[in-house]
Amino acid sequence: MNGIHEHILEILYSEEDLAAMCQRIAREIERDYAGKEVLLIAVLKGSFVFMADLARQLNIPCSVEFMAVSSYGNGMSTSGEVCVKKDLDCQIAGRDIIIVEDILDSGVTLSYLKKLLTARGPASIRIATLLDKPERRKTDIYADYVGTVIPNKFIVGYGLDYAEQYRNLPYIGVLKPEYYS
Ligand code: IMP
Ligand code: MG
Repeated sequence: MNGIHEHILEILYSEEDLAAMCQRIAREIERDYAGKEVLLIAVLKGSFVFMADLARQLNIPCSVEFMAVSSYGNGMSTSGEVCVKKDLDCQIAGRDIIIVEDILDSGVTLSYLKKLLTARGPASIRIATLLDKPERRKTDIYADYVGTVIPNKFIVGYGLDYAEQYRNLPYIGVLKPEYYS
C-alpha cells in the first residue's frame, strides 16, 4: 500500500509532542481566564485539529466559533491579500476571545483578522498558535500562547496542508521533495 505516511521525509513533532503542547497551552489559558468564559475562534481550515484538541483540554467554560480566511493559494507562500470566506455567526462585543491558529508565518492573516475582530469591540482578544515561524514575520504581530517556535521549513500534518492534502496526518512533518510539485 502506498499511504500518505510514505510521503513524509521526517517527523518534526509526534502525536505525543503535540498533545503536550495542547495541554500546556490549556493550562496557561485556564490560569489567565479563571472565572471567565472564553470564546475560541478557529481560523479554518488549518486550525481545525488544534482547536479540537485544545478545546478538549480546557477545563473552563468555553464556546467555539469558526471563521475562514485565506491569504494563500494552493502553494507555499503568501499572496499578501486576505479575504474573509466565512464570517462569525455570533456577536463578540464584550466577550473574551482567543483566536486559534495553526501557524503564525508572515503574520499577514492574523494581523488582518485581529484588526477586524478588535473593531467589533470584544472585552479582550488574544492569539493562540500551535506553531510560530518568527523568521518569516512581515508584520508586527505576536501570539500570546505558542505551542512551539519552528524553523523556516514548510511543514504538513495536524491540520496543515500542502495543496489541501496531508491535513489528516496525526503528526507534523516535512514532505519528501518529490511530493512538492
Ligand atoms: P500568514 O498569513 O503568512 O501568517 O499565513 C498563515 C497561514 O499560512 C497558515 O494558517 C497556513 O494555512 C499557511 N502556512 C504557513 N506556513 C505553512 C507551512 O509550513 N505549512 C502549511 N501551511 C502553512
Ligand atoms: Mg494552508
